[in-house]
Amino acid sequence: MAQRGGCTVVVGCQWGDEGKGKIVDVLAERADIVARYQGGANAGHTVKVKDEEFVLHQIPSGILHEGKRCLLGNGVVLDTQQFFQEYDALVRRGIDMEGRVGVSLRAQLLLPYHRMLDQMAEDCATEKIGTTGRGIGPAYEDKAGRRGLRVADLANAERVEMRVREGRDRARRRLEQLGQNGLAELDRALEETLALGERLLGLATDTGYEITRALRAGQRVLLEGAQGTALDLDHGTYPFVTSSNTTAAAAATGTGIGPTSIDSVVGVVKAYTTRVGEGPLPTALEPEMDERLRQLGGEFGATTGRPRRCGWFDSVITRHAAQVNGLTGVAVTKLDVLDTLAELQVATAYRLPDGSVTDRFPADTGALSSIEPVYESMPGWQAPTDGVRRLSDLPSKARSYLDRIEELTEAPVRWISVGTERDQIIPVE
Ligand code: IMP
Repeated sequence: MAQRGGCTVVVGCQWGDEGKGKIVDVLAERADIVARYQGGANAGHTVKVKDEEFVLHQIPSGILHEGKRCLLGNGVVLDTQQFFQEYDALVRRGIDMEGRVGVSLRAQLLLPYHRMLDQMAEDCATEKIGTTGRGIGPAYEDKAGRRGLRVADLANAERVEMRVREGRDRARRRLEQLGQNGLAELDRALEETLALGERLLGLATDTGYEITRALRAGQRVLLEGAQGTALDLDHGTYPFVTSSNTTAAAAATGTGIGPTSIDSVVGVVKAYTTRVGEGPLPTALEPEMDERLRQLGGEFGATTGRPRRCGWFDSVITRHAAQVNGLTGVAVTKLDVLDTLAELQVATAYRLPDGSVTDRFPADTGALSSIEPVYESMPGWQAPTDGVRRLSDLPSKARSYLDRIEELTEAPVRWISVGTERDQIIPVE
């Protein structure tokens, strides 16, 4: 029997923006295939290579390592126009893309009317989600409603025509209800998207088959999640979530492999907490400190440029993430952002309005707005960590902070990221 390689899932443990792109980029060096399993152009992974910065929305971060095969799984909602813009921009920047990118035949196509419906839904909603406006919710609605268009359908012109006509009609009716125009613009965008169909079919593949074969041949595979655990459709702060399962189990369904093929799950945990969009953030900071951390950490959305709300480290959510994802290891990111702070707070539990204390993440999102975090205070290390490359060289107070994160999250810390550069990473042996 052929030797089996390793399959690792990389997943966000907070509200997204944990720095997964950087961790995937580092781990991709030893991988043969990197695959995305959910989400779409709502994601924004920033990766720095030497003096160059790359922001990737749909193509896995592994593309920045020569020769790695990068796949978009069936769990993805693919925005074709945006995808080829990103693809062509990478070509222009000298990245060799030939034969390196594959798109699942079963992936859903996100069409221009999904973007339009997303924005209209947000404009009209009483309870706004604060979406990225990239059409994610409506595209997954069409998938679950069994009226979506998949990559494989592109080979059948009649099917494309029928599904697109129905989708366009829904968007037209909605536009009419709202007394808005925009149909001409929609038609133009649809035409442009469908013109890319053949090019997309040229990249189409069966991702599950490809990954399974690769694993059996002893290759290594990384499955890259987008967003984070608290934005998972089932396990996050519903309804203030994205419309897909972001957590590790979705890596199997979202690429077409069995769950038994996954060997390890790396949870990416930022050394503090951030959130963009609506919904509760239990450990949110007071305005002055919020602004300070945002500036120190450059906490602005990679996709929308929106400022992220900042909070102290919240172990209730990371413990929940360890359970839901079955974490085998943790990568702590942006430790260096905290270098100048004199004192840090870590939330260990939540105090509920009736005075009781829980260390579990509540299912009732409404209740999250009325809880009070129970904090533990820790001294800051007030020394630069961005040049540190060995655990033993970290200030002892920084190590105590990391030890506490590990203890409270209930998963071992395996990597510590101390900057945006590829080599600014400390492996924990
Ligand atoms: P959607 O995924 O665009 O529908 O947005 C739903 C929620 O997820 C909103 O609160 C967004 O701000 C949030 N969200 C979506 N993608 C990301 C991401 O990549 N990072 C952080 N938040 C995200």
